[in-house]
Amino acid sequence: MPEPREKFLKSASASDGLLCSLFDKLDEEFFSRAPSVRVAAQFGVGYDNIDVAAATRHGVQITNTPDVLTDATAEIAWALLLNAARRVSEGERIVRRGEWTGWEPGQMHGVGVTGKTLGIIGAGRIGTAVAMMSSGFRMRVLYCSRKPNAELETKLGARRVTLEELLRESDFVSLHVALNTETRRLIGADQLKLMKPTAVLVNTARGAVIDENALAEALRERRIAAAGLDVYDGEPAINPALLELENVVLCPHLGSATRETRYAMGRIAAENLVAVLTGKPPLTPVNRVD
Ligand code: GLV
Repeated sequence: MPEPREKFLKSASASDGLLCSLFDKLDEEFFSRAPSVRVAAQFGVGYDNIDVAAATRHGVQITNTPDVLTDATAEIAWALLLNAARRVSEGERIVRRGEWTGWEPGQMHGVGVTGKTLGIIGAGRIGTAVAMMSSGFRMRVLYCSRKPNAELETKLGARRVTLEELLRESDFVSLHVALNTETRRLIGADQLKLMKPTAVLVNTARGAVIDENALAEALRERRIAAAGLDVYDGEPAINPALLELENVVLCPHLGSATRETRYAMGRIAAENLVAVLTGKPPLTPVNRVD
Protein backbone atom coordinates (compact mmCIF):
# COMPACT_ATOMS: atom_id res chain seq x y z
CA MET A 1 0.00 0.00 0.00
CA PRO A 2 1.23 3.54 -0.65
CA GLU A 3 2.44 5.63 2.28
CA PRO A 4 0.27 8.64 3.15
CA ARG A 5 1.41 11.51 0.88
CA GLU A 6 2.68 13.86 3.65
CA LYS A 7 4.67 11.07 5.31
CA PHE A 8 6.18 10.13 1.95
CA LEU A 9 7.10 13.75 1.14
CA LYS A 10 8.69 14.20 4.60
CA SER A 11 10.83 11.08 4.45
CA ALA A 12 11.83 11.69 0.83
CA SER A 13 12.84 15.29 1.49
CA ALA A 14 15.78 14.11 3.60
CA SER A 15 17.03 11.58 1.02
CA ASP A 16 19.68 11.63 -1.71
CA GLY A 17 18.20 8.70 -3.59
CA LEU A 18 14.86 7.00 -3.70
CA LEU A 19 13.73 3.47 -4.55
CA CYS A 20 10.18 3.99 -5.80
CA SER A 21 7.33 2.08 -7.40
CA LEU A 22 4.11 2.74 -9.25
CA PHE A 23 2.28 3.88 -6.11
CA ASP A 24 4.69 6.76 -5.43
CA LYS A 25 3.63 9.95 -7.18
CA LEU A 26 6.75 11.87 -8.13
CA ASP A 27 5.41 15.15 -9.49
CA GLU A 28 6.47 18.80 -9.52
CA GLU A 29 5.43 19.18 -5.85
CA PHE A 30 7.57 16.18 -4.91
CA PHE A 31 10.69 17.39 -6.73
CA SER A 32 10.43 20.94 -5.39
CA ARG A 33 9.93 19.67 -1.81
CA ALA A 34 12.80 17.14 -2.03
CA PRO A 35 15.74 19.16 -3.39
CA SER A 36 18.36 16.75 -2.00
CA VAL A 37 17.07 13.83 -4.11
CA ARG A 38 19.48 13.14 -6.99
CA VAL A 39 18.14 9.85 -8.24
CA ALA A 40 14.81 8.02 -8.22
CA ALA A 41 15.14 4.35 -9.14
CA GLN A 42 11.78 2.96 -10.21
CA PHE A 43 11.24 -0.69 -9.20
CA GLY A 44 9.45 -1.59 -12.44
CA VAL A 45 9.53 -0.86 -16.13
CA GLY A 46 6.56 1.54 -16.37
CA TYR A 47 7.00 4.98 -14.83
CA ASP A 48 3.73 6.79 -15.45
CA ASN A 49 3.75 7.73 -11.73
CA ILE A 50 6.74 10.01 -12.44
CA ASP A 51 6.67 13.41 -14.14
CA VAL A 52 9.92 12.82 -16.03
CA ALA A 53 10.04 16.37 -17.45
CA ALA A 54 9.80 17.78 -13.90
CA ALA A 55 12.54 15.38 -12.74
CA THR A 56 14.81 16.54 -15.55
CA ARG A 57 14.12 20.22 -14.73
CA HIS A 58 15.14 19.52 -11.12
CA GLY A 59 18.25 17.59 -12.24
CA VAL A 60 16.95 14.25 -10.88
CA GLN A 61 18.04 11.08 -12.64
CA ILE A 62 15.20 8.59 -13.21
CA THR A 63 15.94 4.91 -13.83
CA ASN A 64 13.72 1.83 -14.30
CA THR A 65 14.12 -1.96 -14.57
CA PRO A 66 13.44 -3.00 -18.17
CA ASP A 67 14.25 -6.40 -19.79
CA VAL A 68 14.41 -8.51 -16.62
CA LEU A 69 10.62 -8.56 -16.30
CA THR A 70 9.73 -9.02 -19.97
CA ASP A 71 9.23 -12.79 -19.95
CA ALA A 72 7.50 -12.88 -16.55
CA THR A 73 4.98 -10.26 -17.69
CA ALA A 74 4.44 -12.03 -21.00
CA GLU A 75 3.74 -15.24 -19.06
CA ILE A 76 1.03 -13.51 -17.02
CA ALA A 77 -0.54 -12.19 -20.23
CA TRP A 78 -0.69 -15.79 -21.49
CA ALA A 79 -1.99 -17.07 -18.15
CA LEU A 80 -4.83 -14.53 -18.33
CA LEU A 81 -5.50 -15.23 -22.01
CA LEU A 82 -5.78 -19.00 -21.53
CA ASN A 83 -7.67 -18.66 -18.26
CA ALA A 84 -10.24 -16.23 -19.70
CA ALA A 85 -10.61 -18.17 -22.96
CA ARG A 86 -11.05 -21.58 -21.29
CA ARG A 87 -12.92 -20.27 -18.22
CA VAL A 88 -10.46 -21.79 -15.75
CA SER A 89 -11.14 -19.52 -12.74
CA GLU A 90 -14.87 -19.60 -13.35
CA GLY A 91 -14.77 -23.41 -13.45
CA GLU A 92 -12.71 -23.55 -10.27
CA ARG A 93 -15.27 -21.37 -8.48
CA ILE A 94 -17.98 -23.88 -9.45
CA VAL A 95 -15.88 -26.78 -8.14
CA ARG A 96 -15.06 -25.00 -4.87
CA ARG A 97 -18.72 -24.13 -4.27
CA GLY A 98 -19.50 -27.84 -4.55
CA GLU A 99 -21.76 -27.17 -7.55
CA TRP A 100 -20.06 -29.42 -10.09
CA THR A 101 -22.29 -32.40 -10.85
CA GLY A 102 -20.08 -34.17 -13.37
CA TRP A 103 -18.85 -34.04 -16.97
CA GLU A 104 -21.43 -32.90 -19.51
CA PRO A 105 -21.06 -32.29 -23.26
CA GLY A 106 -22.67 -28.87 -23.03
CA GLN A 107 -20.78 -27.64 -20.00
CA MET A 108 -18.80 -24.41 -19.89
CA HIS A 109 -17.82 -24.05 -23.52
CA GLY A 110 -14.95 -21.63 -23.85
CA VAL A 111 -13.09 -20.11 -26.78
CA GLY A 112 -10.36 -22.19 -28.45
CA VAL A 113 -6.95 -20.57 -28.82
CA THR A 114 -4.94 -22.70 -31.27
CA GLY A 115 -4.84 -21.36 -34.82
CA LYS A 116 -6.68 -18.13 -33.97
CA THR A 117 -5.63 -14.49 -34.49
CA LEU A 118 -3.69 -12.67 -31.78
CA GLY A 119 -3.67 -8.85 -31.81
CA ILE A 120 -0.83 -7.14 -29.97
CA ILE A 121 -1.32 -3.45 -29.14
CA GLY A 122 2.11 -1.99 -28.42
CA ALA A 123 4.90 -4.12 -29.88
CA GLY A 124 7.73 -3.17 -27.54
CA ARG A 125 9.66 -5.67 -25.44
CA ILE A 126 6.71 -7.26 -23.63
CA GLY A 127 4.32 -7.16 -26.60
CA THR A 128 6.99 -8.83 -28.72
CA ALA A 129 7.56 -11.56 -26.09
CA VAL A 130 3.81 -12.28 -25.87
CA ALA A 131 3.63 -12.54 -29.67
CA MET A 132 6.68 -14.85 -29.85
CA MET A 133 5.10 -17.18 -27.26
CA SER A 134 2.09 -17.61 -29.59
CA SER A 135 4.00 -19.74 -32.08
CA GLY A 136 3.27 -22.91 -30.09
CA PHE A 137 -0.41 -22.16 -30.61
CA ARG A 138 0.15 -21.63 -34.36
CA MET A 139 -1.53 -18.23 -34.26
CA ARG A 140 -1.74 -15.50 -36.88
CA VAL A 141 -0.34 -12.33 -35.34
CA LEU A 142 -1.43 -8.76 -36.02
CA TYR A 143 0.15 -5.82 -34.25
CA CYS A 144 -0.34 -2.14 -33.91
CA SER A 145 2.63 -0.05 -32.89
CA ARG A 146 4.25 3.34 -33.50
CA LYS A 147 7.14 1.64 -35.31
CA PRO A 148 7.35 -1.50 -37.46
CA ASN A 149 8.70 -4.54 -35.62
CA ALA A 150 11.08 -6.47 -37.90
CA GLU A 151 11.41 -9.40 -35.48
CA LEU A 152 7.66 -10.05 -35.45
CA GLU A 153 7.39 -9.66 -39.20
CA THR A 154 10.29 -11.95 -40.11
CA LYS A 155 9.95 -14.61 -37.39
CA LEU A 156 6.14 -14.81 -37.18
CA GLY A 157 4.95 -13.26 -40.42
CA ALA A 158 3.08 -10.74 -38.25
CA ARG A 159 1.29 -7.87 -40.00
CA ARG A 160 1.28 -4.25 -38.76
CA VAL A 161 -2.28 -2.88 -38.96
CA THR A 162 -4.34 0.03 -37.65
CA LEU A 163 -5.95 -0.22 -34.22
CA GLU A 164 -9.34 -0.48 -35.89
CA GLU A 165 -8.33 -3.39 -38.12
CA LEU A 166 -6.65 -5.16 -35.22
CA LEU A 167 -9.78 -4.91 -33.07
CA ARG A 168 -12.06 -6.11 -35.87
CA GLU A 169 -9.86 -9.07 -36.88
CA SER A 170 -8.40 -10.42 -33.65
CA ASP A 171 -9.74 -13.25 -31.53
CA PHE A 172 -7.43 -12.23 -28.69
CA VAL A 173 -6.28 -8.67 -28.02
CA SER A 174 -3.41 -8.06 -25.60
CA LEU A 175 -2.41 -4.57 -24.43
CA HIS A 176 1.26 -3.63 -24.04
CA VAL A 177 1.43 0.16 -24.30
CA ALA A 178 2.90 2.51 -21.72
CA LEU A 179 0.33 4.79 -20.09
CA ASN A 180 0.51 8.37 -21.38
CA THR A 181 -1.87 11.03 -22.70
CA GLU A 182 -2.21 9.18 -26.02
CA THR A 183 -2.96 5.77 -24.53
CA ARG A 184 -5.23 6.76 -21.60
CA ARG A 185 -8.67 5.18 -22.35
CA LEU A 186 -7.33 3.87 -25.66
CA ILE A 187 -9.92 1.10 -25.38
CA GLY A 188 -13.36 2.58 -24.70
CA ALA A 189 -16.94 1.86 -25.77
CA ASP A 190 -16.27 2.64 -29.45
CA GLN A 191 -13.25 0.34 -29.64
CA LEU A 192 -14.99 -2.48 -27.75
CA LYS A 193 -17.83 -2.29 -30.30
CA LEU A 194 -15.36 -3.20 -33.05
CA MET A 195 -14.33 -6.44 -31.35
CA LYS A 196 -15.78 -9.86 -32.16
CA PRO A 197 -18.44 -11.23 -29.76
CA THR A 198 -16.09 -14.21 -29.24
CA ALA A 199 -13.03 -12.04 -28.53
CA VAL A 200 -10.97 -11.97 -25.34
CA LEU A 201 -9.22 -8.81 -24.12
CA VAL A 202 -6.10 -9.03 -21.94
CA ASN A 203 -4.50 -6.15 -20.05
CA THR A 204 -1.13 -6.43 -18.32
CA ALA A 205 -0.11 -2.83 -19.13
CA ARG A 206 -1.91 -0.19 -17.07
CA GLY A 207 -5.55 -0.13 -15.95
CA ALA A 208 -6.25 3.36 -17.28
CA VAL A 209 -5.58 2.21 -20.87
CA ILE A 210 -9.12 0.76 -20.72
CA ASP A 211 -12.36 2.53 -19.84
CA GLU A 212 -13.35 -0.02 -17.19
CA ASN A 213 -17.03 0.98 -17.07
CA ALA A 214 -17.30 0.45 -20.83
CA LEU A 215 -15.48 -2.89 -20.51
CA ALA A 216 -17.79 -4.07 -17.72
CA GLU A 217 -20.80 -3.18 -19.86
CA ALA A 218 -19.40 -5.00 -22.92
CA LEU A 219 -18.68 -8.09 -20.80
CA ARG A 220 -22.09 -7.98 -19.10
CA GLU A 221 -23.88 -7.72 -22.46
CA ARG A 222 -21.59 -10.40 -23.94
CA ARG A 223 -20.47 -8.02 -26.68
CA ILE A 224 -17.07 -9.58 -26.09
CA ALA A 225 -16.61 -13.05 -24.60
CA ALA A 226 -14.19 -12.43 -21.76
CA ALA A 227 -11.32 -10.39 -20.37
CA GLY A 228 -8.23 -11.06 -18.30
CA LEU A 229 -6.91 -8.16 -16.24
CA ASP A 230 -3.76 -7.78 -14.16
CA VAL A 231 -3.96 -4.00 -13.75
CA TYR A 232 -6.69 -1.55 -12.77
CA ASP A 233 -7.49 2.12 -12.96
CA GLY A 234 -6.97 3.32 -9.37
CA GLU A 235 -5.58 -0.01 -8.13
CA PRO A 236 -5.62 -1.63 -5.64
CA ALA A 237 -9.30 -0.60 -5.73
CA ILE A 238 -11.26 -2.65 -8.28
CA ASN A 239 -14.21 -1.26 -10.20
CA PRO A 240 -17.22 -2.96 -8.48
CA ALA A 241 -18.87 -3.56 -11.86
CA LEU A 242 -16.00 -5.91 -12.77
CA LEU A 243 -16.24 -7.84 -9.51
CA GLU A 244 -19.81 -8.88 -10.33
CA LEU A 245 -18.90 -10.57 -13.61
CA GLU A 246 -17.98 -14.23 -14.15
CA ASN A 247 -16.39 -13.63 -17.58
CA VAL A 248 -13.44 -11.61 -16.35
CA VAL A 249 -10.30 -13.02 -14.73
CA LEU A 250 -8.86 -10.63 -12.14
CA CYS A 251 -5.22 -10.88 -11.06
CA PRO A 252 -3.58 -8.66 -8.40
CA HIS A 253 -0.90 -7.03 -10.62
CA LEU A 254 1.30 -10.13 -10.81
CA GLY A 255 3.12 -9.28 -14.07
CA SER A 256 6.66 -9.31 -12.73
CA ALA A 257 5.94 -11.43 -9.66
CA THR A 258 8.36 -14.33 -9.91
CA ARG A 259 11.13 -14.80 -7.36
CA GLU A 260 13.92 -14.50 -9.92
CA THR A 261 12.40 -11.48 -11.67
CA ARG A 262 11.74 -9.49 -8.49
CA TYR A 263 15.30 -10.27 -7.34
CA ALA A 264 16.73 -9.05 -10.66
CA MET A 265 14.58 -5.91 -10.51
CA GLY A 266 15.83 -5.13 -6.99
CA ARG A 267 19.39 -5.65 -8.03
CA ILE A 268 19.16 -3.33 -11.05
CA ALA A 269 17.34 -0.66 -9.04
CA ALA A 270 20.00 -0.82 -6.31
CA GLU A 271 22.82 -0.71 -8.86
CA ASN A 272 21.24 2.33 -10.49
CA LEU A 273 21.05 4.10 -7.12
CA VAL A 274 24.65 3.30 -6.23
CA ALA A 275 25.92 4.29 -9.68
CA VAL A 276 24.30 7.72 -9.65
CA LEU A 277 25.18 8.45 -6.01
CA THR A 278 28.83 7.57 -6.69
CA GLY A 279 29.02 9.72 -9.83
CA LYS A 280 28.79 6.90 -12.39
CA PRO A 281 26.35 6.55 -15.30
CA PRO A 282 23.17 4.62 -14.44
CA LEU A 283 22.60 1.21 -16.05
CA THR A 284 19.08 1.85 -17.28
CA PRO A 285 18.35 5.59 -17.41
CA VAL A 286 14.94 6.97 -18.31
CA ASN A 287 15.99 10.61 -18.70
CA ARG A 288 19.21 12.46 -19.39
CA VAL A 289 20.49 14.76 -16.69
CA ASP A 290 23.58 16.84 -17.43
C1 GLV B 1 4.89 -3.03 -13.38
O1 GLV B 1 3.74 -2.84 -13.63
C2 GLV B 1 5.98 -2.41 -14.07
O2 GLV B 1 5.76 -1.40 -14.75
O3 GLV B 1 7.09 -2.92 -13.95
